[in-house]
Parts: sequence; structure tokens; C-alpha cells
Amino acid sequence: MYLKLKMNFKEHLETFLSKDETELIINSRKMPEIHCFMLNNNYNISINDLFNNSINLKKHPHIENAYIYDKEEIEFGKSLEFIAGAFYIQEPSSMMAVSLLNIQKDEKVLDMCAAPGGKSFNILNKLENTGLLIANDIHEIRSKILSANIEKYGFDNVIVLNDDSKHYKKHFKNYFNKIIIDAPCSGSAMFRKNKQAEEEWSIEKVYNCQSIQKSLIEDAYEMLAPEGEILYSTCSFSIQENEEVIEFFLNNHPDIEIVPISLNKLYNDTINIKGGLRLYPHKFEGEGQVIFILKKKREETPLNSYYKEIKTSKPSKDVLKFLNDIKVDINSNDIILFKNNYSFANFTKFDLYDVKINRYGMEIGTTSNNHFEPAHAFSKYFKMPQEMYIELNEDETREYLKGLTISKEGNSGYKIVTYKKIPLGWVKHVNNQLKNHYPKGLRLKF
Ligand SMILES: C[S@@+](CC[C@H](N)C(=O)[O-])C[C@H]1O[C@@H](n2cnc3c(N)ncnc32)[C@H](O)[C@@H]1O
Repeated sequence: MYLKLKMNFKEHLETFLSKDETELIINSRKMPEIHCFMLNNNYNISINDLFNNSINLKKHPHIENAYIYDKEEIEFGKSLEFIAGAFYIQEPSSMMAVSLLNIQKDEKVLDMCAAPGGKSFNILNKLENTGLLIANDIHEIRSKILSANIEKYGFDNVIVLNDDSKHYKKHFKNYFNKIIIDAPCSGSAMFRKNKQAEEEWSIEKVYNCQSIQKSLIEDAYEMLAPEGEILYSTCSFSIQENEEVIEFFLNNHPDIEIVPISLNKLYNDTINIKGGLRLYPHKFEGEGQVIFILKKKREETPLNSYYKEIKTSKPSKDVLKFLNDIKVDINSNDIILFKNNYSFANFTKFDLYDVKINRYGMEIGTTSNNHFEPAHAFSKYFKMPQEMYIELNEDETREYLKGLTISKEGNSGYKIVTYKKIPLGWVKHVNNQLKNHYPKGLRLKF
């Protein structure tokens, strides 16, 4: 194929879109950014519980529990509700992808390019603390941010990896019901938000991304269970990073079919290969996204999935006593020792001996200097008995988040402080004082 290497973005768009459509996309960059959040379903909080109609919010056109807001009116990213984990701030077209995938409770889901965690959050909201999500990102720091976000929102059914699918795929042959590939891409749908992406755009970059995308989707095929589905999405408008990747994949695998996305009648269908969804910023209130759903057809003889489990050892008396003291009922078979921390892993315990792992379920805590110290992650566990909670008002919450001690009457022992019923972290109640156990690295500086 003849490839013109010196091409600007507008010329590139005109190779597969009409001049009018190209013009609309280019002009849409002058329109304001759209800001949106999705509520965390873990703690049964409603939008009224949080804001009591005090803020102008518009419902997302297609997603329950997601709201568009005006950043000029309120910077939700700095709000106490956000810090506590009441919602995830995410671009409205980005959250569309997972909303179109039919994720059922108890399913096993893989998010291959997951950091910082927006789509993982959408998946976990749908799984409702059942099943398992394995969330991976190849970049070390981004995978740590992903892990911190999983912790912040209180999800317990997640393993966070930091590896290459070429390396970890052998552990999960034909295993997952759903696989999400939110692929690294040239980012042309993000130009309005990210000026640097525009400066760095080139047709070479588009083709470099295509080669990574093809490799990722091929690895996904090996890990997908029969009748399982792949959600493929990018925030690039380039046909090379979307339709061409899917065409390549369909040609390689006759047992893969496209699951048509009916919303494309309202917005835009994909180009040449039909059945996907193209969200453009001039038609959909968001930055843009291209989405495909692909299904592995049923095999005559279903392929067996293969995985190896670790042998769990008995948890220490300390962790069992702690759980008993706070009246949390966890089966000791679901407690594993991971990086010197006891973790709650209520799912198949894969032996991922050669994979880089950042999180294996939810940390419960560790024994140091002969006493058990609960992990911050465990304060977010959604099945704590009600008597564990102490609700703070707004001023007390700010004090707590700064690491200060708060005076409160009550019984001694470990407790969890909440703001608007959302868990913030541990305190130790001693002599009518709440000794602060909020992690130093998370404390507010102002
Ligand atoms: C579009 S972003 C993902 C956004 C994320 N899904 C979300 O909703 O928050 C693409 C991610 O892919 C990661 N990445 C790049 N190459 C990768 C690869 N070969 N395997 C896994 N992740 C990769 C990048 O570090 C980046 O975090």
C-alpha cells in the first residue's frame, strides 16, 4: 500500500472520512471539555445522599449512575467525596465502552491495558464484588497508580499485574469470559484535552500503535473462553488503529464474530467493517472513542481452560484474632500471604510464580513488632459490621485526612472513620481520642 509519510492530522482524517466530517472533528476541538463521574456502587450511596441537589448535574445520556458536571462550578477532583472514593472521574465517551459489554456477576474478566483504572472501575461496578478482575498495565508506575485506585474504591476481587501479555498469557489459556483491550493509541480523540498528544501525532506513530494493538488482540484470543467476548476500544479516530486491527483479527480467526452495537444507529457505525461504534465529539458529548465487541463462537468441543493454583498455608493466629475482634467473617482458606501481608483473595488462587504482581486481592494487614496492623485497603472492605464505623463531619474529615488526632467518646479498639458513609481509613480509639492511621503518603497538605 502506498503510504504518504508526511501527512498532517487533517489530511490523515480525509483519507477515510468526508471533508465535512473531518471539518466537524477539527472544529470540535474549540468546544469546551466535558467532565463526568461515575458513582462507586460498593457503598450503596445515591447522588442525593452525596449532594442533596446542591449542585447542577446532568445525567449521562446512556449510563445509570454517571453525571456530567461543570468544572467551573465545582472541582470534583478536589472534593472530600472524591478523596473518600464516592466516585471515579472519567470522560463520558470512555465510560461508554464497558457499559456496552454484557458483564454478568461471577464472570472472570481481564483488563489488559488498565491504568489508571477507569475501565477497571466500570467493570468492577458491574461485577458487584463477585467473580474476578485481573487488571494489568505494562508500565510500572502506571500499574502502581492502578493498584492505588483499586484500593481507594474498596474492590476486593482484583489481581493487579504489571507485565506483558506475552509473558502472563500462558497462565490463563481459554479462561476469561470477558477481555477488555483499551489499547495504547495515537490519542487523536484526546487532542482537546491533551495538546501534547496533538504535537506528538504522526502517521508513523499510528502504525507503531497498530503493531502493538495487533499483538495485544492476538494474545487476548488465546486467553478468551469459548463464547467469551473481547471489548476493543481506542481513543484514536484512525482507521489503522481500529477497523484495520479488527479486520486483521477476523481474518486470522474464523471463529470470531462481531457483536453489533445497536447505538451506532444513533451515532456512527464503524467504517468498512460494520457493527462497531464511532463516537465523535460533534455528535456525542465527550472526547470520542471507537469501540468493537467481538465474540468467540461456541466450539463443538469446548476448549479446556488451564491454570495452576498456589498452595495456601494456614493464616497466623494474629490475623484470625483481629478478624474475630472486629467481627468480620472471612474463610481462612481465602486468606493468603502476599508480600508479607495477609490478603483476602476470594477467588481462584493462581500460581503466577513468574509474573510481576502488584496486588493479589485485598490486603488485610501484617504483624509487626508482635502486634497486628490492619492495612489501609481493608478499611474500605464493604462488609464491615456497622459498629466499626464512626461518621465524621466535614471539618473532622479534613483533620483526619491531614493526619490529625480527633477527640470522640467511645469504646477502645480499631475503628473506621467515614464521611457521608464512605470509609476513609482506620483510627485507633484510645482514651476518647481517635489516633490517626491514615497513610502518610495520602495525607492532605493544605
Ligand atoms: C488508553 S490507556 C488505558 C486507560 C485505561 N483503560 C483507563 O480506562 O483508565 C492505555 C494503557 O496501555 C498501557 N500499555 C501500553 N502498552 C501496553 C502493553 N503492551 N500491554 C499492556 N499495557 C500497555 C499504557 O501504559 C496505558 O496505561
